[in-house]
Amino acid sequence: MVREWDPRTASPAELASLLDTLNAVLAADLPQDPPWRGTHLREYLSEVMPGERRISWVAQADPAAGGAPGPILGHVHVLLLGDIGVLEVLVHPSVRRTGLGRDLARVAARRVYQEGFQSIGVEVVGGTPAVAFYEALGFSREYVETRSVLDLSGVDWSALAEMATGVGAGYQVQFCPGGPPDDLIEAYARAKAEVRDVDDGELRPSSYDPQRLRDSLATLHRRGMKPYIVLATHDRTGEVAGLTEVVVPAQHPTRADQYDTIVVQEHRGYGIDRAIKARMLLELRSAEPTLTEVQTWNAQANEAMLKVNAELGYRPDREWCEYGVDVAELVHRLGG
Ligand SMILES: CC(C)(COP(=O)(O)OP(=O)(O)OC[C@H]1O[C@@H](n2cnc3c(N)ncnc32)[C@H](O)[C@@H]1OP(=O)(O)O)[C@@H](O)C(=O)NCCC(=O)NCCS
Repeated sequence: MVREWDPRTASPAELASLLDTLNAVLAADLPQDPPWRGTHLREYLSEVMPGERRISWVAQADPAAGGAPGPILGHVHVLLLGDIGVLEVLVHPSVRRTGLGRDLARVAARRVYQEGFQSIGVEVVGGTPAVAFYEALGFSREYVETRSVLDLSGVDWSALAEMATGVGAGYQVQFCPGGPPDDLIEAYARAKAEVRDVDDGELRPSSYDPQRLRDSLATLHRRGMKPYIVLATHDRTGEVAGLTEVVVPAQHPTRADQYDTIVVQEHRGYGIDRAIKARMLLELRSAEPTLTEVQTWNAQANEAMLKVNAELGYRPDREWCEYGVDVAELVHRLGG
């Protein structure tokens, strides 16, 4: 049975069951990824940025003979942001290829259509059944990135310490756990606004103005995702010349996510990129002693970023694709 579901009011048993399904999906599709924990899972599934909405449904098996609720075997949510709905469908491996994924996509697509949105986007992990699934539903590939993973046990820490100091004269590098300091928020937002050279996915909203940046940091904290920032400031102008952001999610705290890394155009060529990323890893080593890996997403054309990541020890792992579809076409195809 597929029904609309609100994670804010869901029972702990439902959340636990959904977590089991998510971990079964990971074990089947991404066996090298760490399993998720239930910490802040409710907040992770509920909290959104101002102006955004997330609508969720679950597919729950029939009650067992004694009347106990059946497990949650499928989940779909759609995040309505700007003019697009971002979809995520999850089906337990034990019940795949029975049409459940299609049923979940149908209910979400109808709602997105009713809400007046025109397109749906989805992140699809290369080498998993999701590729054939979304292609069968008429989605087409719009953008491809490579996910790379750094195993911290293989890092040469003394080489890294050297890289961290290799920044040109006239810049200061600082570590900011929790977010940029208040007096630098505006300069930070300017650096993000000016440059689109991010090693991040299009579906992840970036924050280009101070208020949006504050909202975005507050949302991250509420979702149980701890942000760490290293930034380089330019002595003469006080501007933020470069920044790198890593988030340690409570749901998988042994593997951190690299978010944006930006070096403002006029400050390129001074070793800032390499230095801030190296400094970040050094700081994380003491701030997050249980961390074992960091993952990052890069556009395949971003050769400079890929080169620095390779020097730091990142190894390419998977293709990470964005697919999109016209909502009306999807609803029509799914029989809506
Ligand atoms: C993608 C996914 C949702 C598909 O769910 P499902 O219930 O198996 O999908 P359906 O049974 O509705 O399949 C619909 C159609 O998609 C296509 N399809 C789905 N899985 C496929 C596969 N493994 N190989 C080829 N085609 C496939 C088929 O055309 C299928 O129709 P058919 O069975 O009549 O041939 C499911 O595999 C899943 O949850 N994957 C993980 C998704 C994810 O977000 N992962 C993130 C962390 S890895």
